[in-house]
Amino acid sequence: PIITYTQDDGTVRRVDAAAGLTVMEVALQQGVSGIAADCGGALSCATCHVYVAPDWFDRLVPASEDELAMLEFTFDPQPNSRLSCQIEIVPALDGLEVAVPARQF
Ligand code: FES
Repeated sequence: PIITYTQDDGTVRRVDAAAGLTVMEVALQQGVSGIAADCGGALSCATCHVYVAPDWFDRLVPASEDELAMLEFTFDPQPNSRLSCQIEIVPALDGLEVAVPARQF
């Protein structure tokens, strides 16, 4: 699936992502700027915050209670905020667009 990331510097990156990985893992692999992911996907750092394009937000598996709790610790959370380590890439997400916030904390 093709995932489009808008980096923290505004640069748009389109990457061909492998299904089964998370949006965070692909961002790190591809060197997308602005995602720290300090905890490596353990849902304990909230430094993998992204904003999901509104068209796509409702098509994702909803955030768990634990993810919602962690999102409160992010810089400038918005209704379309997600933690990218909790978004697993599946074929149906071809075309997904996310934006990296200006800062992670
Ligand atoms: Fe730490 Fe997502 S990588 S919460």
